[in-house]
Amino acid sequence: MPEDLTVMIVGSGAREHTISVAYEASPQVKKIIVAPGKDFMGIGRFKEVIADGNCKLKDAESILRVALKYEPDLVDVAQDDALAAGTVDLLQKKGFTVFGPNQAAAQIEWDKKWSRNLMKDYGIPHPEYESFTSTGEAKAYASSLYKQLRGPMFIKASGLCLGKGALRAENIEEAVKTIDRMKEFEEAGKVFLVEQCLVGEEFSFYAICDGNNYKILKSAQDNKRAFNFDEGDQTGGMGAISPSMLAEASSKEIEKQLVGKAVAGMGLEKRPYKGILYVGGMMVDGKPFAIEYNVRWGDPECQVVLPSLTEDYLDVVQAAIDGKLSGMDLSQDGLTRVCVVGASKGYPGDSSAVKGKRIFGLEAAMRNSNVMVFGAGIKVEDGKFYANGGRLFSIIAAGENIVEAREKAYDAIAGIHIDGNNLHYRTDIGFRDVERFFKA
Ligand code: GLY
Repeated sequence: MPEDLTVMIVGSGAREHTISVAYEASPQVKKIIVAPGKDFMGIGRFKEVIADGNCKLKDAESILRVALKYEPDLVDVAQDDALAAGTVDLLQKKGFTVFGPNQAAAQIEWDKKWSRNLMKDYGIPHPEYESFTSTGEAKAYASSLYKQLRGPMFIKASGLCLGKGALRAENIEEAVKTIDRMKEFEEAGKVFLVEQCLVGEEFSFYAICDGNNYKILKSAQDNKRAFNFDEGDQTGGMGAISPSMLAEASSKEIEKQLVGKAVAGMGLEKRPYKGILYVGGMMVDGKPFAIEYNVRWGDPECQVVLPSLTEDYLDVVQAAIDGKLSGMDLSQDGLTRVCVVGASKGYPGDSSAVKGKRIFGLEAAMRNSNVMVFGAGIKVEDGKFYANGGRLFSIIAAGENIVEAREKAYDAIAGIHIDGNNLHYRTDIGFRDVERFFKA
């Protein structure tokens, strides 16, 4: 077994920090490069972790230049813009061993119209929808859909828009105004969808795929709104739990309807899927529906799902690259994990007033054996930590159940603050499963 491998991870958030820690645990790995990464990712680690900021995630050529500098044995392209930009294709062409779907397979995320058509063609349960380039036709469809549903709709840009391209309209008047807003998304909004808004509870479901076969990983549930009990604006994710009791109770049906059909469909479309497949799903009247597919780990779900894997992550990824997942038994621990995201006050709106303010207490959390700390918008200067973005860090705790895991995570984050009382976090992460736990 080699012990001197270099792994390069493409991305820069707490998700990529989590992936970096998973590779670090492999005895085969000696050095990790995160591109562009963040300095925080190397702090307190027992192996060499280098953040190389000389690349842009939408620019595959710039990522190639970083890869050529370090000559990694494996590149894990973990971030959506980099996958959509064809980074996997370019690096493979240059002879690198790469984990992640190629640009054609990644279309299941970067082109919402293509993705919905795949769902329709392969019988994957999905909301009613039509796609448009003309606002007039879209408004006529929205009007007939509203007459039929008498309920809210989503107007969605087909391209990638940092998770901000799906707008909810409560009635036909709002739908008409929202259709006119699609031009704000420029290229990404040239094609857009008008969809039924399903009403139910969301879950996240993960599989690792090798082109033909897949293995199911633990489920999760994200908390996307800024404030407790799902109030406030949509964010990148304020916390997550894994497993999700809701998803685990229907896991066989979710696997069959949303994972099996998608992987088979991608094969039939001659785009065999290799990489992490992330299903954003919703349970509606006890049945799972696909809201979206993503071609990478979720953030913050990765922070609670990946640490449960007890296998060497490098071996699992290599088996996926080699098309050998079917012969592998994936073991995951039986613990429940909770992730609470610490953000700058004001996020997801303007949090620029917090930029540069000192974060206190993070060092103690990093020493606390009850939790893991993964960083995102943190600047490191003279060994001190400063806020440098919206979402700053994720605190993760594991327990025998949701109550124990929450207690440890919230104990740890209670000791962290930002100069001027500028730290924001939700205090209700996992509230639905706490209720389920006490009812069970
Ligand atoms: N958790 C949402 C996302 O990663 O897209």
